[in-house]
Amino acid sequence: MQTVFSGIQPSGILTLGNYLGALKHFSSMQHDYDSYFCIVDQHAITVPQERLKLRQQIRSLAALYLASGIDPTKATLFIQSEVPAHAQLGWMMQCLSYIGELERMTQFKDKSAGKDGVSSALLTYPPLMAADILLYQTTIVPVGEDQKQHLELARNLAERFNNKYGEVFTIPEVQIPKVGARIMSLNDPTKKMSKSNPQPKSYISLLDEPKTIEKKLKSAVTDSDGTIRFDPENKPAVSNLLSIFSLCTDESIPSLEERYRDSGYGPFKSDLAEAVIHTLEPVQKRYYDLINSSELDDILDAGAEKAAKKANKTLKKAENAIGLGRKKR
Ligand code: TYM
Repeated sequence: MQTVFSGIQPSGILTLGNYLGALKHFSSMQHDYDSYFCIVDQHAITVPQERLKLRQQIRSLAALYLASGIDPTKATLFIQSEVPAHAQLGWMMQCLSYIGELERMTQFKDKSAGKDGVSSALLTYPPLMAADILLYQTTIVPVGEDQKQHLELARNLAERFNNKYGEVFTIPEVQIPKVGARIMSLNDPTKKMSKSNPQPKSYISLLDEPKTIEKKLKSAVTDSDGTIRFDPENKPAVSNLLSIFSLCTDESIPSLEERYRDSGYGPFKSDLAEAVIHTLEPVQKRYYDLINSSELDDILDAGAEKAAKKANKTLKKAENAIGLGRKKR
């Protein structure tokens, strides 16, 4: 059976972008693949985090994975820092990476631009991400568009390692959805929707109440042309709303264009809000059932144990290949 791995940072409450670009696809894959889904808390601390808030966000993300349909009897759900092999292989991947290729990563450039006191981990984040993936001999990594460059690096590092030290790692393939791979901010369609954006009006959180969702979508920017057409270049804001609508209802974009052709933005936005609320309602209900349950802890305990078993096997092979420590028995 082939293996799927993906991770999400607990750096804020997940947005509709995370859901439509990544999370939504995970639960359908768990039936056909040996699946590993990770709460990558070590990635989250590449920028400062408040201790208690981080703890709460880790738990919240675990509950959201399950609420979105991850079944712990099928997939392995775990917290990165509870499986030490990630940091261990992450170090080896750092040793294989060149500073130049890490400095070329767009996310690093965006996140560090004009800032003082940028942590060195912000630069060495992609080798840790490569380790996350390679530890499970992953074949497929479902992610949104913004992770494509990191995935290319992970593939390069795996190939570099295999060429230098012998075949240890499977080379992973990236899987990016055709629609929804880059959901944009509601108040600036040139930026992606992000959970770390300080302006709550720019995103829909998976835990927003119906009234808030309605308000945010009603005030989402559009344009002055007044027509509902999918044209990302000339009408990025409306095209973004059409993508969200289509993903929440499974109705195709051409069919939505046809239906709302003469409606104007008001009715379109009202129906869109209803569709988003309807999509998130069952996720929110399951989330609140789970968040304080001890069942959540049991699932994470079992997940960490199962993940560590597979990860440690690969780690041992990699250490033997490089010559670290004594030969593992
Ligand atoms: P993160 O936590 O920023 O995002 C989690 C997932 O959501 C996708 N995503 C989006 N998709 C569509 N539209 C958006 N606006 C949007 N924003 C985010 C991301 O592409 C991602 O799939 N580095 C990763 C976490 C990570 C990881 C891994 C992923 C660490 N190790 C190994 C895969 C495999 C990150 O910061 O994702």
